[in-house]
Amino acid sequence: MTQAAYSTHGAIALVSMNNPPVNGLGYDLRSGIVAGLDRALADPKVSAVVLIGSAKAFSGGADIKEFNSPRALAEPSLHTVIRLVEGSSKPVIAAIGGACMGGGLELALGCHYRVAVAGAQIALPEVKLGILPGAGGTQRLPRLIGAEAALNMIVSGTIVPSEQFKGTPLFDEFIEGDLQAGALAFAEKVVKEKRPLKRVRDLKIDYPNAEAFFQFARNTVGAVAKNFPAPLKCVDAVAAAVTRPFDEGMRLERESFVYLVQTPESKALRHAFFGERAASKIGDVPEDTPTRKIERVGVIGAGTMGGGIAMNFLNAGIAVTILETRQEALEKGVGIIRKNYENSLKKGKLTQEKLDQRMGLLKPTLSYDDLKDADLIIEAVFEEIGVKEQVFRKLDEVAKADAILASNTSTLDVNRIANFTKRPQDVVGMHFFSPANVMKLLEVVRGAATAKDVLATVMQIARKIRKTAVVSGVCDGFIGNRMIEHYGRVAGFLVEEGATPWQVDKALEKWGMAMGPFRMGDLAGNDIGWAIRKRRYVEKPDVKYAKIADTLCELGRYGQKTGMGWYRYEAGKRDAIPDPVVDKLIEDYRKEKGIVPRRISDAEIIERCIFALVNEAARLLEEGIAQRASDVDMVYLTGYGFPLHRGGPILYADQVGLYNVVRAAQRFAAESGDAFWQPAPLLAKLAAEGKTFN
Ligand SMILES: NC(=O)c1ccc[n+]([C@@H]2O[C@H](COP(=O)([O-])OP(=O)(O)OC[C@H]3O[C@@H](n4cnc5c(N)ncnc54)[C@H](O)[C@@H]3O)[C@@H](O)[C@H]2O)c1
Repeated sequence: MTQAAYSTHGAIALVSMNNPPVNGLGYDLRSGIVAGLDRALADPKVSAVVLIGSAKAFSGGADIKEFNSPRALAEPSLHTVIRLVEGSSKPVIAAIGGACMGGGLELALGCHYRVAVAGAQIALPEVKLGILPGAGGTQRLPRLIGAEAALNMIVSGTIVPSEQFKGTPLFDEFIEGDLQAGALAFAEKVVKEKRPLKRVRDLKIDYPNAEAFFQFARNTVGAVAKNFPAPLKCVDAVAAAVTRPFDEGMRLERESFVYLVQTPESKALRHAFFGERAASKIGDVPEDTPTRKIERVGVIGAGTMGGGIAMNFLNAGIAVTILETRQEALEKGVGIIRKNYENSLKKGKLTQEKLDQRMGLLKPTLSYDDLKDADLIIEAVFEEIGVKEQVFRKLDEVAKADAILASNTSTLDVNRIANFTKRPQDVVGMHFFSPANVMKLLEVVRGAATAKDVLATVMQIARKIRKTAVVSGVCDGFIGNRMIEHYGRVAGFLVEEGATPWQVDKALEKWGMAMGPFRMGDLAGNDIGWAIRKRRYVEKPDVKYAKIADTLCELGRYGQKTGMGWYRYEAGKRDAIPDPVVDKLIEDYRKEKGIVPRRISDAEIIERCIFALVNEAARLLEEGIAQRASDVDMVYLTGYGFPLHRGGPILYADQVGLYNVVRAAQRFAAESGDAFWQPAPLLAKLAAEGKTFN
């Protein structure tokens, strides 16, 4: 079946694109458009052609299902389609409703006329994938809406509603009512009035002070987009639209496109784009698995996490009942939620009406009776198995039959928690990250008994509250924290051997991490890691740790909350200030241990810390705790401040080359004697086979 239906309406041919959901311009659709155009040109009774999409989309651009496949470039390519449309001897009119983005907009720009409904979404979002519009968008859009407006759209990738272009030649007419009928009527007018074949390429841009403007644009864009090359290439391409003949501009656009597609930054952005989509899928849970309805949510515990978790649902318009053991704690928790909303109000990010609406959806309570109607109950009480047991036994008594019972535990065994109930199939981990109302990541922890419809429902609700959900199996630390423990452990040894905490943090931050390990420890509270280590000393005595962190904690230096940790903090401020006291502490520690400090380079810091993440990730993949390599990257990009332009620890390792990662790990193993550095079998195997994770 063709993806472009052909029909005639008097003297007008109608080519209707039909490739749901968004008319992605895949091979079949492109071929269909060309076939329709050929038919119209061959029919003497036809005088003009209308190209239309669906109510949802004229076209959302390239078909992502074809990305990286030969079909994406097969003829007729998008370039060819646009050339044929623009060169048509009969006028072609684009009828635009819904999404008109990327290649879809470029196709519309190749048409002789464009009509649109208000509310259509117009964008050239390619920059978000680290590339630029590659089918003439950078050359044609400025000719219609002016260089500055086009540059803003192309550099930012922002979606602009069609009505904002009223008065520009981008749209020849706005249609009220039915788009198809309006477009056909417009086409008849074009024929009757013998209007010319308007080609955007023939337009000239009159911009007297172009050079000065583009220089200014380069400076501004360069400063903002420091890790990404695409935005600057966009500026150059738009500048060419103004200063050079059309075909030269097209050549420059093409060259930039080919260059950008190959950059690691673009690969990273595309990896994240597809990684996000892949993460929402669970191998053995089919996409059509029925889900449970979630209209009322219960949250147990109104502390740091409970409050943030509640806000996610309130923001999405879902009613939340929040339960505490004491009135005082309840009031404090609700007060913090209100305060957060009031701060947003002050910053102009929230209206009073929205604030009232959200607070109106929140019901504080001390009684479990109020949770009997809840469809989903998330526990966020103290991290103690006894307290969790008490809560889950109680929930088992009061929750309705098909309610989902979730725990936000960071370290406890979800299977054990599930077995406190008589319905382990309804129990799942929902591991939010702090601050829970801000951080994108949600680790969905799948217990041995967790039912498939529970998983499907949680993945769906995660989308609704705008989280990136990644499934993890049950293990100590799940995906993210199990990896970070080794990263922190390695950072500790670097300090023991000769680096300062601030050197380690600075090196990693310069490399792109949002925060180095020591600043992160100070933020999260060094006591948390300390508690975990104390447990490890008993459970896994073979795993070695640098003990400086313990000494630090013994002095009560827990981090920001105590005004000092690895750094010192001035009252009310969050700036981490290197502290000579810590220098002295480290010096004494080394002396006591007989360690002669050595010079450690930034490159070594990056290698050790990042490859530690990679080696542990390989073990997680092997054990099936993580479903796929890109899931690990999504965890790090959305929950741990890993630099987006590097695409996650695994993509980074793939790009460095696994052979090199393995060699480094072997070297670290020999130097440190730490068994951790034995390359994980999966890593070693892939490296030996010359393969990559992704
Ligand atoms: N803080 C983090 O960064 C973070 C991140 C992810 C997960 N978690 C997990 O979230 C959970 C909560 O952590 P938090 O940082 O919000 O702790 P918190 O101490 O700030 O809050 C816990 C709240 O639970 C309440 N509470 C205790 N027992 C209760 C009970 N039986 N019934 C009802 N309420 C009870 C307490 O009064 C307190 O307000 C823990 O399991 C923790 O491991 C914490």
